[in-house]
Amino acid sequence: MAKFTTGAVIPVLEGALADGPRTLYTQLYDRVRQAILTGALPLGHRLPSTRTLAADLGVSRNTVEGAFSQLQAEGFLVRRVGAGTFVAEAVPEYYRTPRVPRVARRSSAPAPTRPRGRDALSERGRRTAAIALGPDSAGTHPLVPCLPALDAFPVRTWQRVVARRVRRGGRDLLHYGAAEGYRPLREAVATHVATARAVRCDWRQVMIMTSTQQVLDLVARLLLDAGESAWVEEPGYRGARAAFLAAGARLVPVPVDEDGVIVDAGVARAPDARLAYVTPSHQYPLGGALSLARRLALLAWAHRRGAWIVEDDYDSELRYTGRPLASVQGLDTAGRVVYVGTFNKVMYPSLRLAYVVLPPDLVDLFAAARQQFDGHTPTLLQAALADFIEAGHFVAHLRQMRLVYRERRDAFLAAVAEELAPRIRLGACDTGMHLTGWLGEGVDDLQVVDRAARRGVALRPLSTHYLGPDRRPGLVLGYSSAPPAVTRRALRTLSAVLDA
Ligand SMILES: Cc1ncc(COP(=O)(O)O)c(C=O)c1O
Repeated sequence: MAKFTTGAVIPVLEGALADGPRTLYTQLYDRVRQAILTGALPLGHRLPSTRTLAADLGVSRNTVEGAFSQLQAEGFLVRRVGAGTFVAEAVPEYYRTPRVPRVARRSSAPAPTRPRGRDALSERGRRTAAIALGPDSAGTHPLVPCLPALDAFPVRTWQRVVARRVRRGGRDLLHYGAAEGYRPLREAVATHVATARAVRCDWRQVMIMTSTQQVLDLVARLLLDAGESAWVEEPGYRGARAAFLAAGARLVPVPVDEDGVIVDAGVARAPDARLAYVTPSHQYPLGGALSLARRLALLAWAHRRGAWIVEDDYDSELRYTGRPLASVQGLDTAGRVVYVGTFNKVMYPSLRLAYVVLPPDLVDLFAAARQQFDGHTPTLLQAALADFIEAGHFVAHLRQMRLVYRERRDAFLAAVAEELAPRIRLGACDTGMHLTGWLGEGVDDLQVVDRAARRGVALRPLSTHYLGPDRRPGLVLGYSSAPPAVTRRALRTLSAVLDA
């Protein structure tokens, strides 16, 4: 049989694929698709083998394979085992008439191709799409960190508060709201953070947002230019990295020890950074508290350099022994701290209510920007939460959750000691809803996570919280969301996985 070469038989596919932002796969996909749509490749026509086409075009066989598989999935190509690849006899109707560029039918010039998928994105869009945060935490997973005990949430009280607000709020709740948030909730938050966290602010500095993540995104858009440096803790919270990376920032990993982020190391690595993201009251994920000396050093650096400190105080309300150190914001005398807190953990994740306390000169600017992006947070839930706080239910709920979590933590410590020691060593455990479980040197935590997932237990690897190559294997283990018996069963599965 005559050798089938593209050059001889299908000139329309000839020509080198270009270097550039569009992948070879996408270019080839477009070229074949376009050739079919314009009729340059007739219906039923046989295409060369992937090997031949790859050789002729100077690309890998995987590239051709990928493009052919996609075209087959979309109905443009038919592949018959032993016979080869053919243009489908009937190209899907959806693609035909209006979508065939008329110009291309009349002339032999290559039809204009529209970038697809990732290639259609902006530079920022491509950066954003390239960030993989891993699986979300929907559903119940006893060992996934930062999930609250929904079984202990006062559902009845909350339902009553929301229902009363719906009845009383009437049509007033239906108007557009202020970008800064619903005033009574802003006031309630200002009082709460002043009392509980020694944050110094006026209620006008408080903006109600959907989530910490939304605050971080807004901070990144408004305070960071592409190419500027941002300190992030190493290991650290991946959500913050994602927001800053999407903005095109250069991430500077700053190591962490039991006293929190090592500020001197940050100053040495990137003295001119624009912003430092920190979790001072409970370092995520390792659990240390930033020492007072380092808090002051961090503020001194920010004041000197005119840098921003983003203080993420995500779970400091849940402290089981002693009193937490006051917030960094409360020590700031120069308005360099953006303080962030969330209700999505102490209340429930689908609530989507968080807050940011801004330096006074940023409030109007942030509000104007927030107005552009998504307007505001739903007024009904803001109003209901303000009522819930005002009636004292929030403080009671926090008190109750501290008891529940302390009990779950103690049961978790006992279960780990019995089921997993000494294969897992636990880190700090006096605050929050999770612990770090260190695995032995040389253990691959990603493999552990994979094997546990196959047995139905979701886990979060520690190594993915590092940016640099110096990663210690471990697991970020939640103990808050499930009753102790359920958590113990999951720990037994983990034990079996570690033994396998
Ligand atoms: C350090 C830290 N900040 C913030 C959050 C998320 O808060 P939100 O749900 O309000 O975005 C998490 C969630 O796990 C977290 O670990």
